[in-house]
Amino acid sequence: MTRLHVHGGNGRLGRAIVLIAKASGAYEVSISGRKEDASEHEVAWDVAIDVSQPQGSLAIAARCAVDGVPLVIGTTGHSIDQLNKLHADAERIALLLTPNFSVGVNLLFWLTEKTSEILGPEYDAEIVEFHHRLKKDSPSGTAKRLGEIIAETRSLQFERAGRHGRKGLVGERTRNEIGVHAVRGGDIVGEHTVYFAGSGERIEFTHRASSRETFAKGALRAADWLLGKPAGWYEMGDVLGLR
Ligand SMILES: NC(=O)c1ccc[n+]([C@@H]2O[C@H](COP(=O)([O-])OP(=O)(O)OC[C@H]3O[C@@H](n4cnc5c(N)ncnc54)[C@H](OP(=O)(O)O)[C@@H]3O)[C@@H](O)[C@H]2O)c1
Repeated sequence: MTRLHVHGGNGRLGRAIVLIAKASGAYEVSISGRKEDASEHEVAWDVAIDVSQPQGSLAIAARCAVDGVPLVIGTTGHSIDQLNKLHADAERIALLLTPNFSVGVNLLFWLTEKTSEILGPEYDAEIVEFHHRLKKDSPSGTAKRLGEIIAETRSLQFERAGRHGRKGLVGERTRNEIGVHAVRGGDIVGEHTVYFAGSGERIEFTHRASSRETFAKGALRAADWLLGKPAGWYEMGDVLGLR
């Protein structure tokens, strides 16, 4: 049995992971969160999954780095400074970070890269994402990753090229921008559409998640894959053979 720790285990995604892990009979599961501090746990974990908030990722990563526990992070919304700290922890443990655990979204990442490479900058790229009203970060980590992928194919920096909504007399669209638009409402689990709009035609790719089960299964797949891996930085594309 794999001894699995879920940080953020009382949250929406954390609960889904715990449910599926327990039902499989393959894991001995422990959890922590804001109310139940991980530092109060004796570390007897083979692998940990973090689905909390950015500050929580840093705390659990530091703990795993000290104790040599591989860590899967699904939390989104980290600042550049926080990501740098996680990269430093990945020098000591196997650390996998992904904004999205679903196979379909990782395929969308791959398709977006290939499409953007083939179409080139003459096709305007825009991303629209939908999430439930309780989501805290915006744009979603997945939308951000899609923007970074498109930016990389066009030798742009997403931090500068990302155009987050438009209002007022903003002028004509330039080739060097990637539009990103976040819709929030109800209980939408997560939807992402990437548009490539050219002259006389438009391509759209849409992914819709209808339940958190797909994320939970992906998180467990990533945790199993990470067991025994050497220290380093990994992504979901490594698990799925898409990189
Ligand atoms: N990678 C993916 O595929 C994927 C998919 C969906 C969501 N996500 C991301 O996963 C994260 C969690 O999403 P969610 O919808 O499950 O959120 P949620 O329902 O708010 O759950 C977050 C959990 O983390 C705990 N937490 C918050 N801050 C913490 C901290 N500083 N230290 C320890 N625990 C902390 C909360 O504890 P309390 O219960 O005590 O408040 C809560 O149980 C978000 O970043 C979200 O964007 C990723």
